[in-house]
Amino acid sequence: MNKNIVFAVVMIGVSSLASCGKNKVACDGSTRTYTADIKSIIDASCVSCHANYSTYSGVKASVSNGTFESEVISKQTMPQGSKLSDADLTKIKCWLEQGAPEN
Ligand code: HEC
Repeated sequence: MNKNIVFAVVMIGVSSLASCGKNKVACDGSTRTYTADIKSIIDASCVSCHANYSTYSGVKASVSNGTFESEVISKQTMPQGSKLSDADLTKIKCWLEQGAPEN
């Protein structure tokens, strides 16, 4: 078998293993607001380590540079040492898809 094909098959296997165990997060179509939904999640789960997330502008900076969605939704490496509920992940995903407004 061609070496490139073997490599491709191995990489597909590795990437599907890597995604295993993480929830695929999708927005359920609901409209979510920073004030009613997101701030309380961040205050409870993030601010103890990330003091800069106590304000909207602090959170928005991480949303804008892409690290927020990557850590919380894609890789689910944050919050460090704990886990958000599926319901909270869905709320955050919807809010991000809606442009992460200060609403
Ligand atoms: C127990 C402490 C702790 C908690 C709670 C925590 N983080 Fe973090 N976070 C860290 C540390 C330490 C780093 C840097 C090292 C690393 O990436 O592992 C980090 C890195 C990050 C990064 C990468 C960019 C950066 O600023 O370095 C993002 C984005 C992030 N955290 C978001 C969050 C969000 C959102 C939450 C809440 C849902 C959260 N974190 C909860 C400790 C924490």
